[in-house]
Amino acid sequence: MPSGAALAAQDCYPTIEDYVGDTPLVRLQRLTSNPSNIILAKLEGNNPAGSVKDRPAMSMIKEAEAKGLIKPGDTLIEPTSGNTGIALAMAAAIRGYKLTLIMPANMSEERRAAMAAFGAQLISVPAGKMELARDLAHEMQARGMGTVLDQFGNADNPLGHYRGTGPEVWEQTKGRITHFVSSMGTTGTIMGVSRFLKEKDPGIQIVGLQPSEGASIAGIRRWPKPYLPKIFQEERVDQVMEIGQREAEETMRALARVEGIFAGVSSGGAVSAALRLSATVSNATIVCIICDRGDRYLSTGVFSEKAAASDPQPCSVQTFPSAAACLIGHPAPHYILFTADLDPDTGVPWCPDCAQCLEPVRARVAETGGTLLEVQVGPRATWKDKQHPLRHHPSLELTGIPTLVHWSNGAPAGKLGPELEAASSTKEADGLIREFVLQHQTVPSQAAGHQASVDVRALMQQLQLKSEVDQQ
Ligand SMILES: Cc1ncc(COP(=O)(O)O)c(C=O)c1O
Repeated sequence: MPSGAALAAQDCYPTIEDYVGDTPLVRLQRLTSNPSNIILAKLEGNNPAGSVKDRPAMSMIKEAEAKGLIKPGDTLIEPTSGNTGIALAMAAAIRGYKLTLIMPANMSEERRAAMAAFGAQLISVPAGKMELARDLAHEMQARGMGTVLDQFGNADNPLGHYRGTGPEVWEQTKGRITHFVSSMGTTGTIMGVSRFLKEKDPGIQIVGLQPSEGASIAGIRRWPKPYLPKIFQEERVDQVMEIGQREAEETMRALARVEGIFAGVSSGGAVSAALRLSATVSNATIVCIICDRGDRYLSTGVFSEKAAASDPQPCSVQTFPSAAACLIGHPAPHYILFTADLDPDTGVPWCPDCAQCLEPVRARVAETGGTLLEVQVGPRATWKDKQHPLRHHPSLELTGIPTLVHWSNGAPAGKLGPELEAASSTKEADGLIREFVLQHQTVPSQAAGHQASVDVRALMQQLQLKSEVDQQ
């Protein structure tokens, strides 16, 4: 037993619990889709158990204790898709509870291992069956096997963000925040932060993301109506964006590669959404939530060389701002081809001029060692619509397809459009493409706002000459 003096001395030192929250807010330096805006990333992976979920885990346990609903030694039960499980396992270990976690079988190995390391007992339900996990947890509680904290219906989940994340973001931006972007799982983060920020300034726009149809992104869901979390209040979210799995993963890899922020897939989705949003607004301060760290996903292969090798994929008009930002870090020069969608039956673009240019563009860009992003403008009727977003894009102002753009520092540095449309044969188109690509071989510096350029070919020749001289 520590003496009175030792007990007094103990009070001078924090415990691990004191380090939940107060996470860093950092500015993205290269991933940008509009230089007039600032995109800030709230690094929730810096919490002790590695995710944004440390906040609600501590909040739910402490508040339940304060209300006399639980006491140390009790058993807690929770259905969780991963991060909450790890956070609750840590919180239960800190506060002296037993914990049973129920999760879908497709959760990554690292997550399971982390929960077990904190001493939690694990139960699996079939992959993707989060609703079943929730039903089972409530059944176990009904049979007296423990207490369900219920992160989906527990007001102390958003309360953790109302008391922590929201005020932190407000103070860290000195009240300059204009947009808040968060992926939505239980919706605790977005509900708590929205409540706080809207109390400070109702004009702050709150943007939530959910996976697009068929996408599977750990931690976030497209909830069927009957399973929408009880804590969700529609009026607290101004806009909901849908994020595809590919887009989220590509941005997640770019975030690590060009920003040095190693995060998970849902965080990639949040940054994609911030980039898309940033392309449509100006003079904005956009804060997005980086929910957790990338090492939690290593075993899933999303960071493998194979996964990265296929970046960047053809993308749609909607996802173009984030895909274009993700070009940084891929071999330069960067080109973007705005082209017609491929006919699903024939695999050929519906526009004959695009069909004629596609292969020559791919081949000529490959020759430069640079990177090509293909942006599909939609079906014919969509593209012909005078309101098509690319016709009104502040710097693109596309008048026709195909248009090949040399993309540099987040903006077009050269365009080849009407000439390509007028070309009467593949050979003629190829000649124009070759000339355009040769003209734009110099590689501008990637540092934002830096205009100095480096001639990579000349450098390579010099290096080659030097190594030949060295060998002689
Ligand atoms: C990786 C990840 N991203 C996003 C979220 C969503 O956070 P919230 O539940 O606060 O909506 C979660 C929730 O568990 C998560 O694990």
